[in-house]
Amino acid sequence: MSELVRITDVSPRDGLQNEAEIVATHAKVALVRQLCLAHVDEIEVSSFVSPKWVPQLADAASVFAACAAFKPTDVEFSALVPNAKGLESAFRVNHDAGSRVIDKVSVFTAASETFSKRNTNASIAETLARFEPVLSSAKHSGLRVRAYLSCVIACPFEGPIDPAQVARVSTQLLDLGVDELDLGDTIGAGTPQSTRAMIEAVVGSVGSRLDLASKGSGVPLVLHFHDTFGRAAECVVEALGLGVRQFDGAAGGLGGCPYASTPDRRAPGNIATDTLVRTIESTGYRTRVRGTDLARASAMASTIVGRPVSQERGPP
Ligand code: HMG
Ligand code: MG
Repeated sequence: MSELVRITDVSPRDGLQNEAEIVATHAKVALVRQLCLAHVDEIEVSSFVSPKWVPQLADAASVFAACAAFKPTDVEFSALVPNAKGLESAFRVNHDAGSRVIDKVSVFTAASETFSKRNTNASIAETLARFEPVLSSAKHSGLRVRAYLSCVIACPFEGPIDPAQVARVSTQLLDLGVDELDLGDTIGAGTPQSTRAMIEAVVGSVGSRLDLASKGSGVPLVLHFHDTFGRAAECVVEALGLGVRQFDGAAGGLGGCPYASTPDRRAPGNIATDTLVRTIESTGYRTRVRGTDLARASAMASTIVGRPVSQERGPP
């Protein structure tokens, strides 16, 4: 039997955080429900960040509370949290629901100092210091912690990022005890070559601590591609060849970090989850995803944002 690849759909969070119009809570909930039917492994439902920084997701607690009613036992829900205050909000959701609605929280930092400052008003070192109390409280309460590392290929402000820097911050995140390492090509600058160089640098530093090629032990390595130039699918194939078995996508290719936008360019969307799934399956791996329901989620994403979303690109 071919190896299983795990899929997280981040469209309700990464997708909707970058929309100019604030999407209604009920529409976000409907998208999450459809993604549950599509049987992705995990849904990044929302963020507990400052509503002044990301007003689009200020209703995170209401979205989670509504989604508690239909959360399947085999689909995980996660939330982005930048600090202890965000974690407290996540705890409150689970407490108020009387059940585990949020299974995992995701902290985020960057391989670029400039991006870290712009996105979180903190240096890389300051973000790592913020994570320490988040990690200890989350673990104490049985929540797992994913750590995102943004700008692993290039930064919208600093340009290309040295793979050795990605390896350095990845090592620091593993030293803190995160449960998952998620490497983000925030602006979709990656090529198969630069993706390989970056992954090889990380594996060269911390490979023995990572769960690669379904080894079954170690910290899972996740890849998070934005798809500016239509090369994300090729980068996924490259990463699969290097043993990566977890990826993020967004229904309809929505997405983008508002703080990765520059005056002349809006931050690009994530790889569309249907492109991601087709790429993985045509490369000889399996996913749990149900294609028809995923296509409905993509159509729903398009209706929600009021414009056509990325069309299926197909495998490279
Ligand atoms: P700050 O202004 O330095 O924070 O922002 P502060 O601690 O000085 O607090 C300022 C105000 O924010 C206070 O409120 C706090 O209570 C409040 P006030 O007293 O002024 O009324 N505050 C909060 N409110 C709600 N929830 C919280 C929270 N924390 C403080 N958790 C901060 C620092 C980190 C909060 C801010 O920079 C922030 O929220 N940044 C989030 C930016 C963001 O969400 N970016 C997008 C996600 S990252 C991404 O998309 C990349 C990714 O997809 C991977 C990839 O593609 O590479 C993950
Ligand atoms: Mg992203």
